[in-house]
Amino acid sequence: MSPALEVRSITKRFGDLTAVDNVTFGLEAGEIYGFIGPNGAGKTTTMRICATLQLPDEGDVFVEGHSVLEEPRLVRQRLGFMPDSFGAYAATTVSEYLDFFARAYGLRGQDRRRAIRDVMGFTSLEPLSGKLTSALSKGMKQRLCLAKTMLHDPSTLILDEPASGLDPRARIELRELVKALADMGKAILISSHILSELSEICDGVAVIEAGRIRATGSVEEITKGLQPHSEIFLRTLEPIEIAERRLVELPRVGAVRHDRDGLVFHFEGSDEDQAELLAQLVATGVRPIEFALKEADLEDLFLRLTEGKVQ
Ligand SMILES: Nc1ncnc2c1ncn2[C@@H]1O[C@H](COP(=O)(O)OP(=O)(O)O)[C@@H](O)[C@H]1O
Ligand SMILES: [Mg+2]
Repeated sequence: MSPALEVRSITKRFGDLTAVDNVTFGLEAGEIYGFIGPNGAGKTTTMRICATLQLPDEGDVFVEGHSVLEEPRLVRQRLGFMPDSFGAYAATTVSEYLDFFARAYGLRGQDRRRAIRDVMGFTSLEPLSGKLTSALSKGMKQRLCLAKTMLHDPSTLILDEPASGLDPRARIELRELVKALADMGKAILISSHILSELSEICDGVAVIEAGRIRATGSVEEITKGLQPHSEIFLRTLEPIEIAERRLVELPRVGAVRHDRDGLVFHFEGSDEDQAELLAQLVATGVRPIEFALKEADLEDLFLRLTEGKVQ
């Protein structure tokens, strides 16, 4: 079986600028895949190529095995693209907007009415069906845009920075909708310039900067690759300097630094080694109040991964 979406070595130049440089990644049905990179990294250009809106200079993209170069019509039937900005349409209500796009997708009669009802139900837009699109909040516009993208029931969805500019509640609701879509078996490529915005819901991510893929894999794999040691936070009843003196004598303990009212130290070892370390520490007479793996700071790792290159 072909992957839902396969981006194969695409390159796109605008004059002297290589906006997308030999980019390759892929995703399967039911997968949520994050496309992360700073502004100007080449996310939108890559997505527009996947959506047949722009031609690559090199490479190809396959949607369920269909090439964007050879079979763009078949690709469009299977793919829904939600751009990063919502087109403004004067004096158009929510239901008129959806009706227009359903017609553009070639849906007729019963099928069109059913498609509109289904997408409105999924995005909870029914109560707003008579409202003017210009009067919608950003979150509601985003939902309407998602509803429009789903009208022809595509198996692959490409969402360009859908969470940007949303308030926290709308963002959570968007995440729930995306998860529900994946549960329905759709493949979803979703871009963001903020890694932590997507890390919870993504099965995999590709990090892009200055047109090049810097890393691919699960968020966990990427985090591990960037941060080979675990970091442990320790706080004790005794003055922390005493704990520090005992701690540095113990095996597998690396660099130690003071952090708030405790210590953070590098540690290389398994869960068992960690338990053993704690036992040894207690045996020296130190009484820990807190002893916990420190969660990697995703934004910090992201900054380390990308060099802040902006095109
Ligand atoms: N049509 C275009 N003509 C010239 N340059 C473009 C065009 N589209 C995008 N670019 C440039 O390509 C680079 C990547 O842009 P884009 O794909 O929009 O990045 P992102 O979505 O990651 O912010 C940027 O430097 C941008 O200015
Ligand atoms: Mg963009």
